Amino acid sequence: MPTVLILNGPNLNMLGLREPTIYGAETLKDLEARCCARAEALGLHCDFRQSNMEGELVGWIQQARDGAQGLILNAGAYTHTSVAIHDALRACELPVIEVHLSNIYKREPFRHHSYVSAVAQGVICGFGSHGYELALEALAAILNRNKKG
Ligand code: DQA
Repeated sequence: MPTVLILNGPNLNMLGLREPTIYGAETLKDLEARCCARAEALGLHCDFRQSNMEGELVGWIQQARDGAQGLILNAGAYTHTSVAIHDALRACELPVIEVHLSNIYKREPFRHHSYVSAVAQGVICGFGSHGYELALEALAAILNRNKKG
């Protein structure tokens, strides 16, 4: 069963408490349960993690090169700042889907640039936690396509 690594960046451990009008009422645990159920239905193994530390996220992305077949990433605020995460994604050579709960293009201008997008196969934003399920569907299709060659 292919493994999909789902990484969540800073402050996403605060889901449910943090600005619920923007990020929704679900907690990170709820989101993990939703992702794992959808992954299982798609025949994927889901490895779901969160960190507030840039270096830890970079380490996990590096390990994914050998330990996973695809990556879903909500890098939180590091999306808009981190060349280190951009470089790690480039080096891991896996299909990457960028996800944001909110529509970052409807928000402050500093959220309009993403260092992740240039190394992602696609970007899903503005659909709340459902966006993670859409990302899993997209990744399942990509992995199936790659398997068939
Ligand atoms: C976010 C959007 C980012 O701009 C913000 O810094 C986050 C969450 C989202 O999921 O909408 O922490 O990635």
